[in-house]
Amino acid sequence: MTDLVFPKDFLWGAATAAHQVEGGNDNSDWWDWELRPGTNCPDPSGIACDHWNRYPEDIALAAGLGLNTYRYSVEWARLEPEEGVFDGAALDHYLAMTDAVLAAGLIPMVTLYHFSLPRWLARKGGWLAPDAPALLARFAGRVVRALAGRVRWYCTINEPGVVAFGGYLGALGFPPGRLDMGSWDRAAANLAAAIRLVTPAVKEANPGAMVGFTNSMQEWEADEGGRPFMEWLRHRNEDVFLAAAADDDFVGVQTYTRVPVVLPGWQSVLLRGALRVPALIGMAAPPMIRKQALDPNPPLPAGRRRTQMGYEFRPQAVGATLRRVAALLPGKPLIVTEHGIATDDDAERIEFIDGGLRAVHEELDAGVPVLGYIHWSLLDNFEWAKGYSQRFGLIGVDRATLARTVRPSGRHLGEIARTGRLLG
Ligand code: BGC
Repeated sequence: MTDLVFPKDFLWGAATAAHQVEGGNDNSDWWDWELRPGTNCPDPSGIACDHWNRYPEDIALAAGLGLNTYRYSVEWARLEPEEGVFDGAALDHYLAMTDAVLAAGLIPMVTLYHFSLPRWLARKGGWLAPDAPALLARFAGRVVRALAGRVRWYCTINEPGVVAFGGYLGALGFPPGRLDMGSWDRAAANLAAAIRLVTPAVKEANPGAMVGFTNSMQEWEADEGGRPFMEWLRHRNEDVFLAAAADDDFVGVQTYTRVPVVLPGWQSVLLRGALRVPALIGMAAPPMIRKQALDPNPPLPAGRRRTQMGYEFRPQAVGATLRRVAALLPGKPLIVTEHGIATDDDAERIEFIDGGLRAVHEELDAGVPVLGYIHWSLLDNFEWAKGYSQRFGLIGVDRATLARTVRPSGRHLGEIARTGRLLG
């Protein structure tokens, strides 16, 4: 293998999201979801990584690794605790945190909405509320105006497909736990509308901003029978959001694995029929999707490795998804805004990073304008409906003491970032 050289101004980073690391996000829908009777969440987020207080240490660690970018989110539930009421102290917190990011020599990349909603909006129906897109746009404008002199890179909405699919089709055990096609459709349409509204709101607040959303994308592997279903699902989960973002400055691509869609014989014939009749797909899709496309332990051909999440170990899947966005939106700048692996074997994380970067480099060689690689995650953190069981961090966090330990994979990615080279 040969050494790979990356562009000089490549963004090299790690990501977190407020609810997953800050701790005490007790004004949000997720907080309530974790604590409700009969919850499907194994752990409440609780103090998380106490990043709210320990951000100076975490930022210093990220910079010390050699990274040049930190992607983090601002928490809507903290900043707008009641509809239309903005919390000055919370805003000051994010200004101070952003100053720390800048002082450490890191480029801040701010996600405006990463899964958790303010409780007041959840009470209105969350993404089923007709005014949710306008409310997010107002919030975004407010935050971006405040951060204007400091932050240039914004991710508007993190993984709208996962929000819709996970919480409104009941596929991932996310709030609000709706379970029907109608809710899924409405939530997805509202999220697509929000993409269209939030980008101009950010641009109005800061005309020099670089704005994009982040899309959860799979490398799909469908057999003959599974292909129509896969295309239908991919369209709904990935493509509709890309279409809504056609005028954005960049697209964030987030790919963790390859997903098999295998539908033998009669199932495939039935489903093909159902796909043509909306009422039938309405009945067939939720169980089908959960079984076929979201089984955390899908049957994989013999010899394939799995990660802690149950996903296929497939770091190069990100090459396939970059290629796909490049085909749909030719010339659009792309950033890998998440790519990572849950594992207890840090050598495997290093292998995952290298495999992903080789795939990214191939796309760069092919002329795809990839501007950066941001690893998920900086820290072991709260993995939504899986609680603290998944270790995604370049930096380990001891759950008892919250002590941070830089892992060899963190130093490895930092070295690549510092030199701009992946050694062959
Ligand atoms: C999300 C993160 C999550 C990660 C790992 C992405 O879907 O943006 O919040 O922790 O994947 O599952």
